[in-house]
Amino acid sequence: MKIVAIVGSGHGLGGNTARLLDRLCTELRRRCTQQQQAFELDHILTDELMLGASCAGCLDCITAGEQTCPKYGCMERVRQLMEAADLVIFATPVHSFHVSASIKRFVDHFAYQIHRPRHVGQYAVILSTAMGAGHKPAMGYLADTVKLWGFVVLGQLGTHAPSMDKPAYLARLGQDMGTLATRIVTHLDTRPLPRPGLRDLIAFRVARIIADATAEASEVDRNYWRERGWLHSDWFAPARINPVANLLAAMVEAMIRKAMARGLVRPVLRGITG
Ligand SMILES: Cc1cc2nc3c(=O)[nH]c(=O)nc-3n(C[C@H](O)[C@H](O)[C@H](O)COP(=O)(O)O)c2cc1C
Repeated sequence: MKIVAIVGSGHGLGGNTARLLDRLCTELRRRCTQQQQAFELDHILTDELMLGASCAGCLDCITAGEQTCPKYGCMERVRQLMEAADLVIFATPVHSFHVSASIKRFVDHFAYQIHRPRHVGQYAVILSTAMGAGHKPAMGYLADTVKLWGFVVLGQLGTHAPSMDKPAYLARLGQDMGTLATRIVTHLDTRPLPRPGLRDLIAFRVARIIADATAEASEVDRNYWRERGWLHSDWFAPARINPVANLLAAMVEAMIRKAMARGLVRPVLRGITG
């Protein structure tokens, strides 16, 4: 099992996030040893990638190709590791009810993968640690994003850092971790066809709309979709798709395309009641 762990904590491998990650990896290593399988683990600390203050925002990665990103070289190793991995673990502390700025910056430097998914069918897991609350938005954001990169997210596990040395909590965590580890190992063994839900099917079609929308500026996205046969497909790869969900997703795609063509897309006005 080849794992790459993306760690977005300012405490590097010495913090709570790394402790949680270590527990999961120890469990996965144990299971690999039991099954006499090789186990490889690489860590990427997002703080060490020299990505600078933030993404420069040139959008060249999208219109001219990712190799034109000023930080392309900084991401070379992580790109190779992610593409070769059986499992990518994205781990973040909760910062102000969201992901850490460090892992957000990492994600931003892969924005082109929303346009051109590179990880179709690969497996991912999301981990977070917090002092109290915020797992849901933090892990939900990472899960939604990496799904758009093509990953199948096998699970999300958030932990309450202050309880990490309490036996009762650790017992429950051990159970949850066992459930997650079993799911990971089973999927890696059997590689079942994915079953995209309605949200996934709509997201696929929205990504295609985005690829089409950039075609005025550049053909990079659309060529990528064309080469993979995605311009007229229902999903990235063979999958078990519910026909009703697929029909609904097609209707949503048609509505969005129509609204965009007629300039009927609405501004987002919220929070003015009361
Ligand atoms: C800037 C900052 C913001 C934080 N925001 C939250 C928060 O919104 N909710 C929460 O429960 N904990 C919050 N925490 C606590 C961390 O999530 C928690 O200590 C985490 O386990 C730290 O992981 P680490 O040791 O890997 O950095 C915050 C910590 C920092 C430094």
